Amino acid sequence: MSSKVNHFNSKLSEELSENSIRAAWERSTKNQTANNKQIVNLSLGNPSDLPPKLFFHYLGKLTKAGSKERFLGYMDNAGYIETRHAIARDLSNLNFFSKAINENYIVLTCGASGGINCTLHSLLNPLDEVILLSPYFVDYPKYILNHKGAVKTIKPKPPFFDIDIYQIEKTINKKTKAIIINSPNNPTGKIYSTERLKKLSNLLKNKSKSVGHPIFIISDEVYREIVYPPARFFSPVSFYSNSIMVYSFSKSLNIPGERIGYVAINPEAENANLLFNLIKLSNRTLGFTNAPAIGQKIIPRLLPLRMRINDYQKKRDILIKTLKESGFEFQEPEGAFYLFVKKPIDGNKFAELLEKIGLIVVDSDPFGIKGYFRIAFCYDMEIIKKGCKKLFDLGEEVKKIKRRSSGF
Ligand SMILES: Cc1ncc(COP(=O)(O)O)c(C=O)c1O
Repeated sequence: MSSKVNHFNSKLSEELSENSIRAAWERSTKNQTANNKQIVNLSLGNPSDLPPKLFFHYLGKLTKAGSKERFLGYMDNAGYIETRHAIARDLSNLNFFSKAINENYIVLTCGASGGINCTLHSLLNPLDEVILLSPYFVDYPKYILNHKGAVKTIKPKPPFFDIDIYQIEKTINKKTKAIIINSPNNPTGKIYSTERLKKLSNLLKNKSKSVGHPIFIISDEVYREIVYPPARFFSPVSFYSNSIMVYSFSKSLNIPGERIGYVAINPEAENANLLFNLIKLSNRTLGFTNAPAIGQKIIPRLLPLRMRINDYQKKRDILIKTLKESGFEFQEPEGAFYLFVKKPIDGNKFAELLEKIGLIVVDSDPFGIKGYFRIAFCYDMEIIKKGCKKLFDLGEEVKKIKRRSSGF
């Protein structure tokens, strides 16, 4: 039965057929087996590197201890206190918040996705508005709608995709509850500067006063370790008290399947204690109950590890070189592991070319902007090199089309 004629959630059924990132992934695996064609898939942000060896070391220790220690039971919905304590200590050392943070402001969540959902569930009344800056992580609008909120999108200003303070100012009204900031950004790789974040903070402080309630910044920091020098990461939680940091170990430890992350509430936020209890309750009532116990037991041991980004940098650099040589237009990513590239020709023709060449990337439509495509470079170097070859071929085909249409 087609998804259009079933009696289930019709909106979700529609989304199922539109879910482009996963669809691209599934199409590639099917095509590979069906045609045995050399397809290169650079679509999903699923790191191919293994987790650190220490992860398995502590996993082994945990397995041995598990027969004596009861750690796989139900627990506080915020997570194990010692894990929250270790994270609070780590955040204090990193000086993100201007006030010392402790475990009473940390809720362990099922990844950043779980964290954002619990946060939105705690903040929103029906039709409260949440501002998104497009291009944004594809699932943000769905998360907002999950909690009956309304999505307000700020149109991007290519080519830099910076925060457009003026547009945000015009968009804020009494229904505005929050804005989601994602830096380094998926899909652009943009890192917002301190100046811009401070301007945003000042605007939100003033607007919070005039609308009569705090407008929260939800800072999605899943890529904050993946930063290419000389770029530097700045968290908006350092400048703005009504802020909530959302973090995940999916990308920093290459464990997206383990589903572990956290929400850290700015201790200076209005009603921070109440917010903590609401987010903790949401973890339970949304059905997550708590973040995975195994991850929680291992994470404190791995917090001192800092990510090495050399390999990502090499992959980024060879892709940049290929794209430049082939005449594509894009901004060099300052962080994360994506390249956001302008389509050089009409979208339909471009899609046909991608299929002909056997390269899978993600169309920009679901990120809230038309006319671009996203390349993920969190794959083995061998695949990246094959991808470069495909991009080169793509560039050549584009040049042929352009020559033909200009009559040369
Ligand atoms: C910007 C952004 N936020 C959140 C997530 C979800 O992360 P998690 O695996 O921690 O739920 C992703 C995943 O790719 C992402 O790119």
